[in-house]
Amino acid sequence: MNTDTTVTRRLGLALPIVQGPFGGGLSSVALVAAVNAAGGLGSFGVHHLRGEQILQTARALRTATERPFALNLWVPLPGEPEHPAVSATQWQRALQRLAPFFDELGLALPQQPDPASVWPDYAQQLEAVLEARPAVFSFVFGIPDARILARCKALGIVTMGAATSPHEARLLEEAGVDMVVATGSDAGGHRVSFTGPPTSLLMGTFSLLPQVRDAVRIPVIAAGGIADARGVAAAMALGADAVQIGTAFLACEESNAGAPHHQALHDANKPATALTAGFSGRLARGLRNELMATLDAHPEDILPYPWQNWLTGVLKQAAIAQNRPDLMSLWSGQAVGLVRHRHVAAFMQSLHMPQDTFVA
Ligand SMILES: Cc1cc2nc3c(=O)[nH]c(=O)nc-3n(C[C@H](O)[C@H](O)[C@H](O)COP(=O)(O)O)c2cc1C
Repeated sequence: MNTDTTVTRRLGLALPIVQGPFGGGLSSVALVAAVNAAGGLGSFGVHHLRGEQILQTARALRTATERPFALNLWVPLPGEPEHPAVSATQWQRALQRLAPFFDELGLALPQQPDPASVWPDYAQQLEAVLEARPAVFSFVFGIPDARILARCKALGIVTMGAATSPHEARLLEEAGVDMVVATGSDAGGHRVSFTGPPTSLLMGTFSLLPQVRDAVRIPVIAAGGIADARGVAAAMALGADAVQIGTAFLACEESNAGAPHHQALHDANKPATALTAGFSGRLARGLRNELMATLDAHPEDILPYPWQNWLTGVLKQAAIAQNRPDLMSLWSGQAVGLVRHRHVAAFMQSLHMPQDTFVA
């Protein structure tokens, strides 16, 4: 593995490995600390947290690691209201679709929450990230405005934005973002496109990566479908300066994925992954299960993001407590079949293995 790249030099890393951030509470301080200790860049997804919680998280991270880390936010999509209105009829339809599952878990159907009490304010999140001053501010679904990027520069915060097409990569570079994460549709979690419907921007990592490499001069980090040393080597051969790995880190015990999710990622008989808007209202990749099939069969009953995300999130808390992987989102990328490790140290070590170790 080439460890001397523009990314490792700029961030002072021993290895060109970025642990992908996980939103929705799946990141953990332990995961970031373990990745940092092994020479990579740990990331913490904070898009679900309010300003003061982001500052608390940064303090906890600094207690656990002296090495640089990334904080990660979701940029509100252009033209999309942060809290799209949902009528009482829409709410009732979505509830009725999920009612049998709430029933199975012994849960009462929830009241529609007050949006302001549930979803954090993006402007406050940004202020908190700037105050926390992480080594890296990474983001998806768009580009923070020029004043924010200028403040990051002034504070010495490296910015890292996700692109799902060469065009998005160029937009990030033109805006002055420092590094681009070329994210293929193989990746687990949300499809983070910001220039069009995600269904029209589904290029796989190894088609996208060399095109992004050709489109921009800033460092390129490859994400999606990389889960072992072969994937790292292939991405570097296609021009990546580092790789960002999500699913294989999510499968490590140090992540906050929860027992049913960990088990599902390691299950020898796991189903294939699929893209669905059913869990959150936005397109995202996870392992197929009963809940995904039910929601996909009735797209008219899926609420817009973030309402659907909140609703299935209530179900998910109970599903984790009752060990019901069939009734929760099991986010995963297509490379999940390559996942072997349950601990970060062993996984990071395996990324150094000679490639012929993998030949059958
Ligand atoms: C459960 C889950 C949650 C994710 N949440 C975020 C997020 O909040 N912000 C982000 O930039 N990327 C997020 N990602 C993407 C990862 O950081 C990473 O880019 C991706 O998982 C790489 O693809 P792979 O899963 O094939 O390794 C998420 C991925 C997963 C699996």
